[in-house]
Amino acid sequence: MSAGLPVHPGEPWSSGVRRRADGELEVAGVGVHALAAQHGTPAYVLDEADFRARARAYRTAFETAFRAVGTDVDVYYAGKALLTVAVARWAHEEGLGVDTASGGELAVALRAGVPGAQVGLHGNNKSDAEIDRALEAGVGRIIVDSLAEVERVAAVAAARGTIAPVMVRVTTGVHAGGHEYISTAHEDQKFGLSVVAPASADGHGADGPSPAMATLLAVVARPELRLLGIHSHIGSQILDPTGFQVAARTVLELRADLAARTGVLVDEVDVGGGYGIAYLPGEAPLDPAHVARDLARAVADAAADLGTPLPRFSIEPGRAIAGPAGLTLYTVGTVKPVQLADGRVRTYVSVDGGMSDNIRPALYDARYHAELVGRTSDAEPVLARVVGKHCESGDIVVHEVMLPGDVRTGDLLAVPATGAYGRSMASNYNFLTRPPVVAVADGASRVLVRRETVDDLLALDLG
Ligand code: LLP
Repeated sequence: MSAGLPVHPGEPWSSGVRRRADGELEVAGVGVHALAAQHGTPAYVLDEADFRARARAYRTAFETAFRAVGTDVDVYYAGKALLTVAVARWAHEEGLGVDTASGGELAVALRAGVPGAQVGLHGNNKSDAEIDRALEAGVGRIIVDSLAEVERVAAVAAARGTIAPVMVRVTTGVHAGGHEYISTAHEDQKFGLSVVAPASADGHGADGPSPAMATLLAVVARPELRLLGIHSHIGSQILDPTGFQVAARTVLELRADLAARTGVLVDEVDVGGGYGIAYLPGEAPLDPAHVARDLARAVADAAADLGTPLPRFSIEPGRAIAGPAGLTLYTVGTVKPVQLADGRVRTYVSVDGGMSDNIRPALYDARYHAELVGRTSDAEPVLARVVGKHCESGDIVVHEVMLPGDVRTGDLLAVPATGAYGRSMASNYNFLTRPPVVAVADGASRVLVRRETVDDLLALDLG
């Protein structure tokens, strides 16, 4: 490992990551030994400048591209990727709104001081209490996900004596993303309303409007609701941006159809999140400037073809902002060589966390990279699998990675690109306590969310 270590490791590490001459990795000027000594391991380490730069990059790329075709754009950071009070504040300070998926996420955004008007509330099964809290906070948009919800939001708004700003989430039939469970535009899934009208009983033609259109019509008919626009989220970890363009055109067609039926031309179109990142060395993330330029052109073309004015546009990137900014720092415990059927040896390297701090390998078969980050080694690399400490054989952190053959107890190991959907999907399986979220900037680290303790967990157990 000592030979040819790049000074800047590049993808998939955050931009503040460097290798010192002695092989120690540092994040924004803070070495991993200092981070481990101060905060313990496992720890989520977040490169603040990198997070902010990616938030800015998405905002400026989309603003530039959409202004060039004559409309404006709002970028909402999808808080489900990683949400802490500081993180919500960073997104806000960089000019982004915050997309929330529950009352809990909404509470974090509000605690951070994000104005309600710049917050959106999603969810396929919002409670009345969540809807009520959102209206009380003056959220900019509630994204309605079913016909039944139209009535529920209208009733809560009526009870408050207010008018609720809503978007309707539709499914466009565009399937995108890396794994079926994260491709939310499939028709046979719980999210959104299909733009395809149901077939008639005799199998010929359509029997009335599509679920999407029926819901839009229901919103238009309710005086307690103001229809802002149409929303579509096509999937996650998307590396081919064509799907966004196809989905946007479908949404614009629906918008034109609604205008033809009702005279209501909605102002806004949102194509959600899903912008893919690099998880492994050599992978290329989506470039926001390219995606934005092609999407803006596709939207402008579609609007022109349909003879409708351009809508205001919005997007909701989560992973692309938080993912690359974070790494997880672990300490190596047990190292065990295991003979494989084909004669090879796989070295199982156990770390002090696992599926409780990163469920993505177990849930989606997601692939990650790992490196020893505390020292150099000239030992021959060996085929390794990084595993956690849980009572479960699927507790895999990194399926396959080459690590120095002298990897040993006490080594520091880092897994890059864990900023999104690591902490936010963490659990307490086996009563492990969730790691802290530590932000690093300008040569100093600070704890954004402290490590849980067993006492925290026991405090919930009333005996
Ligand atoms: N907007 C909506 C409506 C969404 O449903 C999502 C993600 C996003 C935005 C943000 O997508 P992103 O830009 O982060 O890809 N837990 C999974 C991903 C599920 C995402 C669900 N919705 C994972 O670990 O990959």
